[in-house]
Amino acid sequence: MSRAGVQDSGLPPSLGGLPASYGAASGIRDWGLGKLHVGGLINTGRGNDGATHHRCSMLPPCIARSGSGWYRGNIVRIYLDYNATAPVPAEVADAVSTALRECPGNASSIHAFGQRAKALLDDARSAVARLIGGEPSEIVFTAGGTEADNLAVRGVAESQKDGARSAVITTAIEHEAVLNAVRLLGRRGWPVSLLPVGASGVVAADALARAFDAGGDSAPALVSVMLVNNELGTVQPVKAMAALSRARGVPFHTDAVQAVGRIPVNVRDLGVDLLSIAGHKFGAPKGVGALWVRRGLVLQPQSIGGRQERGRRAGTENVPAIEGLGVAAERAARRMSSEAPRQAALRDRLEQGILAKVPGTAVNGDPGARVPNTTNISFEGVEGESMVIALDLDGIAVSTGSACSSGTLEPSHVLRAIGLAPARVESAVRFSLGEGTTDAEIDRVLDVVPAVVARLRARGRGRG
Ligand SMILES: Cc1ncc(COP(=O)(O)O)c(C=O)c1O
Repeated sequence: MSRAGVQDSGLPPSLGGLPASYGAASGIRDWGLGKLHVGGLINTGRGNDGATHHRCSMLPPCIARSGSGWYRGNIVRIYLDYNATAPVPAEVADAVSTALRECPGNASSIHAFGQRAKALLDDARSAVARLIGGEPSEIVFTAGGTEADNLAVRGVAESQKDGARSAVITTAIEHEAVLNAVRLLGRRGWPVSLLPVGASGVVAADALARAFDAGGDSAPALVSVMLVNNELGTVQPVKAMAALSRARGVPFHTDAVQAVGRIPVNVRDLGVDLLSIAGHKFGAPKGVGALWVRRGLVLQPQSIGGRQERGRRAGTENVPAIEGLGVAAERAARRMSSEAPRQAALRDRLEQGILAKVPGTAVNGDPGARVPNTTNISFEGVEGESMVIALDLDGIAVSTGSACSSGTLEPSHVLRAIGLAPARVESAVRFSLGEGTTDAEIDRVLDVVPAVVARLRARGRGRG
């Protein structure tokens, strides 16, 4: 196989067949343990343009799905990092590829090509709206969760009349997409209030009531509380908090990036005003998402230009990616009721197995208030980053926290915010499962993890 002027990887085509999107991420990181290539071998070759190309042979056929597992050559690779991103299922990849090849028009054009593109957008808009119980006209397509969060937080705050700058309330465990948007508002004069979160990883609804009381008569501009925390998987009492907000007439945004597609989410039932979605967490391509905006809510667009998305987000829509988002939304709606209990059973077996087999382990966050696919476990005496590297060498992909913060070696702001001791924060590892996770994979992880922990602890003792 030869693509895009890059030399053939030379690996057997029998393991091929993955959509190109699987090859998107690769990188070399220097962890001080020598160079580790995350995700595959590197090929160097001369392309058609005569230039030397370095390319990861992680592109098919290097890592391939075969039967119940992922393989590189004959090494099993187990992906337990679905909260960072989920693989794109063949059904979605096919839909994206068909749209790319067969739908060249701009959805704003009035000719037949444009109308065809618009029809794809309309279908996808309806599918996303159905998944969350909203109206198609309330969906604003974005380039992912971060953009949706920015549009919600900044868009609502900046739409205040006469340049008013009333308080913005959020929690200390939000994703950086919300936290940094709120911090920016803080620097520009909006008073900011961060609700504290206890060891359970679940914010108490009455913390919001207290924040409202502390503000006296002045109504805040916005409350933003995530539905599911990305590191702990804990579900926040959004419905109760949105009700408190509504009683005060304060717009309420929820970042539901880690919830949509995994657990039932209904915007009317939650009573929120804005809700963020990221497609790549449930099988759509990376770089596409949506913001649901309750009809009638005024929002200051953050991207200025044409009238796309009813004037709420300028720029030509990414039709193939949005088509993928629509198909992924339909697929999630079909599969959720069987996938959620299946993943919960696997997650619980993984968690109980680790707690039983590895002394000095503890689960972070309230195990009773979580999405089905996530567990966050601290391993006493072991650095989380070392665990991630050691497990990767054994073919198991996990993470220390959110994909954006892991890689910075900054201790997790979420685990610090819930009051964990520094040693427990630094030894935390997140396992997040998905629809590809199998029983056999959990068996293998339960074999590997105790040995890896013992090795790392022995090395730590050796260093004294
Ligand atoms: C809770 C949460 N919000 C927002 C984002 C950002 O989404 P995206 O990666 O699509 O920009 C993430 C990504 O991990 C997330 O977990």
